[in-house]
Amino acid sequence: MSSKTIALIGGDGIGPEVTHEARLLLEWYGREGGLPLELWDLDLGAERYLKDGTTFPEEVKKKIHDDCAAVFLGALGDPRVPDMAHARDILFGLRFGFDLYANIRPVRALSDDLVPLKGKTKDDVDFVVFRENTEGVYVGVGGQMRRNTPHEVAINEDINTRYGVERIIVAAFEYAKSHGRKKVHMADKSNAMRHAHELWLRVFDEVGKRYPEIERAHVYVDALCLYLVQDPSQFEVIVTNNLFGDIVTDLGAGLQGGLGMACSANVHPADPHRVGLFEPVHGSAPPLAGKNVANPFAALLTVGALLSFLGWPDEERRIEAAVTAALAEKQVTKDLGGSLGTDAAAAWVRRRIAES
Ligand code: NAD
Ligand code: IPM
Ligand code: MN
Repeated sequence: MSSKTIALIGGDGIGPEVTHEARLLLEWYGREGGLPLELWDLDLGAERYLKDGTTFPEEVKKKIHDDCAAVFLGALGDPRVPDMAHARDILFGLRFGFDLYANIRPVRALSDDLVPLKGKTKDDVDFVVFRENTEGVYVGVGGQMRRNTPHEVAINEDINTRYGVERIIVAAFEYAKSHGRKKVHMADKSNAMRHAHELWLRVFDEVGKRYPEIERAHVYVDALCLYLVQDPSQFEVIVTNNLFGDIVTDLGAGLQGGLGMACSANVHPADPHRVGLFEPVHGSAPPLAGKNVANPFAALLTVGALLSFLGWPDEERRIEAAVTAALAEKQVTKDLGGSLGTDAAAAWVRRRIAES
């Protein structure tokens, strides 16, 4: 089997620490786990940007396109770069640059103890968010005028194309169909954003009709937030736009034990050969950086999603089982009520994987 190259970007804050743990797991898979993997470390992030102005060079993008099967990204965001200039180039350079239109964020609680809702268990928290990843307010169309005057104007346009809306809704239904899910919810704000989100409503209805075996339900995003806290068990697949998907998946992370537990995949489902981008949902958490306290499980679960994408779905289940065992045996970091450092919690999971 020809080997698959994975580019690793640690990034900022806790990003390098959790990426190091992900790297050790990938190294184990390459050395003892029988997977033909090559790892390529990329020195990109705030430190590099502040040193020489580099953000996301064209030659790196080309090499990722030509040679890599996947990219693992830790996190970006550094208080020394308040405008996030480097992070935008790197993160959006990957998401937009490779047209990775589906940001797939599973929200699954791996232990009852992690669910913060009264009377709810892990069985109540098991859904997947399909976040549109190439449009919306993220495209940067807009501008400012009369800056720093009492009459200043600031505009960010919300871009929704038929093409973009349709393909993410199709991806959500296709996922439901292939994963035995029975219901897809579409969350928008069409009562207020009647131009942009009427398009979402119409396309959702149109695409949904092609999947008669799957129930479809519309929900306003504000009500969705309410229902997610009251009874998340009613959701299986949720499809929504870029911004709402960002917000709803942090709420989702709250239901599964915090941002230290949430993984994500950025992919282009219409092309199985396209490079994929894999990231924990969390950010760089500057106050935790360099202290060996960050929860590495989101990063390890993200490795699982990455390996599944590369064609090894059993490894995703194996990693998830090892993390579940760590939770059961309280081999966890402080955010989950444990006392282990980032390194020890991740090492415990890797040992468990090796034994399984
Ligand atoms: P954050 O995700 O970094 O942190 C939010 C909260 O979750 C904090 O309380 C933090 O301590 C906690 N947390 C996050 N990851 C954790 C982990 N692995 N273990 C334990 N606790 C964890 O979000 P923020 O504070 O809003 O943003 C910090 C920086 O990260 C900003 O610059 C933001 O733009 C950036 N960010 C980047 C990404 C990304 O690169 N994909 C994602 C989100 C935020
Ligand atoms: C995420 C992050 C990013 C986003 C930021 C860092 C731009 O919050 O991946 O969830 O909004 O997409
Ligand atoms: Mn986010």
